[in-house]
Amino acid sequence: MDLREIQRREATHFLPVVNRMPVAIVEGRGSIVVDQDGRELVDLTAGWGVCAIGHCHPRLVEAVRDQAGRLMQTTNLFYTLPQLETIETLAEITPPEITRSFLVNSGTEAVEGAIKLAHRATGRDKFVSTGGSFHGRTLGALSVIGQPKYQEPYRALLREPVVVPFDDVAAIEAAIDEHTAAVIVEPVQGEGGVNVASDGYLRAVREACDRAGALLILDEVQTGIGRTGRMLALEHDGVVPDVLTLGKGLGGGFPVAAFCCSEGVAETVQPGDHGGTYVGNPLAAAAANAVLEVVREEKLHERAAAVGEQLHDRLAAFAREHPDHATGARGRGLLRALVLADAERAAALPKRALEAGILVNVTAGNVLRFFPPLNIPEAELFESTATLLDLIRT
Ligand SMILES: Cc1ncc(COP(=O)(O)O)c(C=O)c1O
Repeated sequence: MDLREIQRREATHFLPVVNRMPVAIVEGRGSIVVDQDGRELVDLTAGWGVCAIGHCHPRLVEAVRDQAGRLMQTTNLFYTLPQLETIETLAEITPPEITRSFLVNSGTEAVEGAIKLAHRATGRDKFVSTGGSFHGRTLGALSVIGQPKYQEPYRALLREPVVVPFDDVAAIEAAIDEHTAAVIVEPVQGEGGVNVASDGYLRAVREACDRAGALLILDEVQTGIGRTGRMLALEHDGVVPDVLTLGKGLGGGFPVAAFCCSEGVAETVQPGDHGGTYVGNPLAAAAANAVLEVVREEKLHERAAAVGEQLHDRLAAFAREHPDHATGARGRGLLRALVLADAERAAALPKRALEAGILVNVTAGNVLRFFPPLNIPEAELFESTATLLDLIRT
């Protein structure tokens, strides 16, 4: 079907809450997607940081196909083997203190679960978060994100969040008190502009939480599963949270997320505290198991670290050589950014990149974010980056 026809028909029935790019994606393999006209595009967004092992990785496709033919859904009332395998693997890849996990369907739901856990475990209702943070779009998640633009339309329904500047130890220490249930923070703010916490920041937050009897929730929906060059971004700082959220890369394209916690936190819940029709869905768990196996076997987190460094060198060199076009580069692993000098030109870049055969994202106004599959071939990554840098320069 031709793009105009797709657009005309969608315009009648799609709830218009998204500005679409002028392209329909019909297929994907590895880091390439194919549009409605059969044109191949390099996907530097990995379906929003999701396709960690690339689009339609044969092992993921096979695992989903196999599980779909066995059992697609039951309820969490019953044990299932795929879910058992997922929670055991999550216990292996998280710090030893994090022993319990619960599978849900999206990152936002994982954050909801984390908020509920923190309230249960502490009996408190104050949450502290950081400016520029993104934790999802349900009312609970909106209550703790640090981006007013998402909250404004729903202000009447939300609790007033306590938001402090990101990466500011004094500010967060001052905000955490005996009423604080939890601090929620991303080790690297993705949506907020690929802002990396300075060395020592998360440790200081951990200590402030301990002093006040508050929990630390690390939101690793975007940074987890190898994205920053470690299996989990918390490993860079050696900080152990009380609650951890995962999503995106966990399912590699299948909607699944998780919130995980320590034994002490788990002791405060009881049956009935949380649930959902699809939680622990066997198909989703089978997808997560395949992704975790591939990432671990192929050490894709280590690859992300090495390839991410090379990408950073190119972006940083560009910023140095073209200060009129870019003011800097930052990020970790394969969550990288080039900060563009001109917000108007930045806004126009994704469409120009699309015409050049590349899917990219600009976030926080002027931050060109790179979050490709962790196994993107170097040639695809660096050739498409060179094309993007040419576009930025001209
Ligand atoms: C750090 C973080 N938390 C939570 C979410 C929400 O996840 P989802 O869109 O799967 O609901 C996102 C999504 O971008 C995220 O980046």
